[in-house]
Amino acid sequence: MKDLRFYLNKALKYHFALGAFNFCNMESLQAIINATAKTKSPAIIAVSESAFSYMGADFVIALAKVEKKQNPALFLHLDHGKTYEICKKAVDIGFDSVMIDASMLDFKDNVRLTKKVVNYAHKKGVLVEGEIGQIKGVEDNVQSKDHVYTSPNEAFKFVKQTGVDMLAVAIGTSHGVNKYSKNPTLKLDILTQIENLLPCFPLVLHGASTVEPALIETFNNYGGNLDKAKGVSEQLLLQAVLQHNIVKINTDTDIRLSFTSQTRKELTLNKKEIDPRKYLGKGRNMAEQILTYKINNIFKSAGKR
Ligand code: G3H
Ligand code: 13P
Ligand code: ZN
Repeated sequence: MKDLRFYLNKALKYHFALGAFNFCNMESLQAIINATAKTKSPAIIAVSESAFSYMGADFVIALAKVEKKQNPALFLHLDHGKTYEICKKAVDIGFDSVMIDASMLDFKDNVRLTKKVVNYAHKKGVLVEGEIGQIKGVEDNVQSKDHVYTSPNEAFKFVKQTGVDMLAVAIGTSHGVNKYSKNPTLKLDILTQIENLLPCFPLVLHGASTVEPALIETFNNYGGNLDKAKGVSEQLLLQAVLQHNIVKINTDTDIRLSFTSQTRKELTLNKKEIDPRKYLGKGRNMAEQILTYKINNIFKSAGKR
């Protein structure tokens, strides 16, 4: 069966990455479904804890059913689950994979909680992502002030002791629109050390949005005010995909930004428009366009379904 594990292994073998795309409403999910279906790309649709409570479990499951119909290679994933309870709930209602993010805890407690989630999820055939190190950034439920890079030795011990299926590594990316004050960098040397200890193991990059300057310009030109925005460089992401074992790339900010900048533009230009389909539809199209570009040019997952 072509399940998530099948595609993670395929991505490791052929050096492409599954986009893990966050959604929080129908339009953002439609943008993801359209972009991945048209490019015949396998991908993950991710729901954060806060998106989960915003939409409600019933809506998440109902929307996810549509997703499988239109692209059978889309997999539903809980992003940054902070507790055993929320991970268990996601497993119970049919998610394909969950992330237990216990990276704020010390190593021993992170292992203990992650292992507990793994034990439960694996019984039901659900894959688990863990995190070691801390990814900088502030977004609702996901907060860390400074980078704490992943220690390769700890990563090795963590994977062996917990039995996780994917590992999120902290190598210099961060969540949100302000990722760097200077030029974007990635600690690819740390990645290499992790890969030497954990050969052929699926690694995950969070905070991987590229934060296109053109989108920021649109956002700011139409009444927004985003300062000093800077994302990860395409070149570095490509290196992580083509020369390393990064097989899942988390992207939320680029979807929000494309969606909202275009919606902002439509609302500003059409001051009498009251029909949400008119402006949300334009936001959805822009998000689809950005995702299609990323799938083709960065993740290299087009045609891999
Ligand atoms: O990694 C974090 C995601 O971007 C989720 O953010 O909790 O605001 O939905 P959120
Ligand atoms: P961005 O904020 O860079 O899109 O990262 C999203 C993410 O890591 C979700 O888990
Ligand atoms: Zn993340």
